Amino acid sequence: MSYAIIGFGHIGQALAKKFASKNIEVAVATKRDPESLASAAAGIGPTVIPKRLSEAVKADTIFVAALFGAHWEVAKTLPSWNGKTIVDVTNAFGVPPEQLDGLPSSKAVAKLYTGAKLVKGFNHLGAAVLDQEPAVHGGKRVVFLSSDDDGAAEEIGKLAETLGFAPVYLGGLSEGGMLVQARGNTWGHLIFEDFVKFDD
Ligand SMILES: NC(=O)c1ccc[n+]([C@@H]2O[C@H](COP(=O)([O-])OP(=O)(O)OC[C@H]3O[C@@H](n4cnc5c(N)ncnc54)[C@H](OP(=O)(O)O)[C@@H]3O)[C@@H](O)[C@H]2O)c1
Repeated sequence: MSYAIIGFGHIGQALAKKFASKNIEVAVATKRDPESLASAAAGIGPTVIPKRLSEAVKADTIFVAALFGAHWEVAKTLPSWNGKTIVDVTNAFGVPPEQLDGLPSSKAVAKLYTGAKLVKGFNHLGAAVLDQEPAVHGGKRVVFLSSDDDGAAEEIGKLAETLGFAPVYLGGLSEGGMLVQARGNTWGHLIFEDFVKFDD
């Protein structure tokens, strides 16, 4: 299984740290040359590998942690996304719902990546919190996952556990996804709620 993170700002780097902390290789990419990411990537760890966007999207599982509108550009980099899993980490704050045909934001995004399975997740915590070690107060920080594909949600849930988080499944993109998304200038009820799960 190979991994990539598209977007290497606050959220992309916070995610990259989690991969690095578990010694898991992850490609990172923006629209810029990979050389411009080299110093920041090296500062996080040797398993964080800057690549061109066109190379990074070859990964099996791709976190999109760029601004919401970037989905429309990223999705054009491959003619088909068959067999891949996209993790939508973006928030569509400030995007008028009518621009998305009234759909939940991740439903609108899912339509762009033809053939991919899409999981909405890792998007509800502020960057400063996501950046922290996920083992806190004797428990594990919760990340919410929503998907219309149960298998993909399970796969990303296992990855979240490997990265040190406690995944909580919220259901499909039109049900659970609504709780952890931005719609216009409003936020779903679970956005920015920082929960910790304790072992039984
Ligand atoms: N910040 C938060 O607290 C927070 C919390 C939860 C979710 N989010 C969501 O996470 C996403 C990223 O937020 P952020 O705070 O990390 O933003 P950021 O610090 O501004 O970083 C955005 C990154 O995306 C890259 N990028 C922009 N357009 C791109 C494109 N078309 N293709 C590839 N890469 C592109 C940027 O590259 P350049 O530097 O070259 O422009 C930059 O590396 C947003 O959708 C945001 O809503 C943010």
